[in-house]
Amino acid sequence: MHQLRNKRILVGITGGIAAYKTAELVRELSKLGTEVQVVLTEGAKAFVTPMTLQALSGRTVRDSLLDPSAEAGMGHIELARWADRVLIAPASADSMARMAAGMANDLLTTLCLATESKVLLAPAMNQAMWADPATQRNLDELQKVKGDKLKVLMPASGEQACGDVGAGRMQEVSDLLKALADEFETKALTGKKVVITAGPTREPIDPVRYISNHSSGKMGYALAQAAMEAGAQVELVSGPVNLPKPDRINNHSVVSAQDMYDKVHELIDGADIFIATAAVADFRPETEASNKLKKVPGQDTMTLTMVKNPDILASVSNLENNRPNTVVGFAAETDQPLVYGRSKLEKKNLDFVVVNDVSRTDIGFNADHNEVTLLSSVDEKPIGPMSKTKLAEELISEIVKSIK
Ligand SMILES: Cc1cc2nc3c(=O)[nH]c(=O)nc-3n(C[C@H](O)[C@H](O)[C@H](O)COP(=O)(O)O)c2cc1C
Repeated sequence: MHQLRNKRILVGITGGIAAYKTAELVRELSKLGTEVQVVLTEGAKAFVTPMTLQALSGRTVRDSLLDPSAEAGMGHIELARWADRVLIAPASADSMARMAAGMANDLLTTLCLATESKVLLAPAMNQAMWADPATQRNLDELQKVKGDKLKVLMPASGEQACGDVGAGRMQEVSDLLKALADEFETKALTGKKVVITAGPTREPIDPVRYISNHSSGKMGYALAQAAMEAGAQVELVSGPVNLPKPDRINNHSVVSAQDMYDKVHELIDGADIFIATAAVADFRPETEASNKLKKVPGQDTMTLTMVKNPDILASVSNLENNRPNTVVGFAAETDQPLVYGRSKLEKKNLDFVVVNDVSRTDIGFNADHNEVTLLSSVDEKPIGPMSKTKLAEELISEIVKSIK
């Protein structure tokens, strides 16, 4: 279940008896380190309380669409984008009917229309309700219109809360957890070695000062996680960031561009893919003062001589014998991002450039979301806006396609 760590799951609960089991599911997800946002329908609140689910998920439960105070925080569209997956458990006959009709008359159905993420639906109801042709028609309709954006976790047969016996019981919590974990289990990179750089570098001026940049490392860490979940052996070479070290990834902490260069070249042998997301300083102070620099009376300016750092990305891409099969660069640009991105692709002999417009504050550096264009010599593909986790999955899947 490690795949569920740090994933963002929006758990929708509708008005059915099985809602009590979903409380247990939310608890299990939280224990696994999953970020869980619970959304309750009006019906659901007759069966479970927001208080219980807030305590279990650690987040304020959302239950209303037309709520100005909630919209002032993470609005419904943001919430729809936030989710890596949506799980509706239990899904009532009524909510399935509304979804099949494309309705958006409460928060949950609106989110189902607004999200680009896959929706997992765990129906639960009395066996006669489940067997009713109207419910079956709604199920067929949903599967037809949503295609691979919907997965129905078919109800099991057995004794029901109402005393009936038949099909309609919600799948067990352990099965729902497995279904969620399977969503992140692509093994396209099994046996492959992936080296990823992330975060900023720090270029020392003296023992207490340095030159750096705003990179948070979030994109690189999300890619490392996505590559690991795709089965790769991941070597993550990271500058100083405030992010937890990802599980099941080989973490290498570095500080300066030169450290990063050295570590990358130590690890690159046998790598199949190199992804350079780090915001590496192009220049560093020529010398690092051994003692803290002091103000000099009467001196109002100070000049630092900077020298060029080695170009890590180009150095890997131009390796003669052990160049990785796929070399991917990131271009964080503030003007004419596509023009600069394409020139970087060509000049540095790259297979892909992920172009990022960092002049926008809603995406890129430090944000949880990103919107990029993936450039190759033959293609130009816009991806997003979406969470960095989801974007990382998409980028890894594009890289996998190119390898095939
Ligand atoms: C005691 C009780 C149990 C219910 N259990 C279910 C159920 O398991 N599945 C279902 O589809 N509807 C069930 N319903 C009916 C739904 O609660 C009702 O259709 C409601 O409008 C669903 O609203 P929602 O889809 O917005 O959550 C039950 C109703 C009651 C009174």
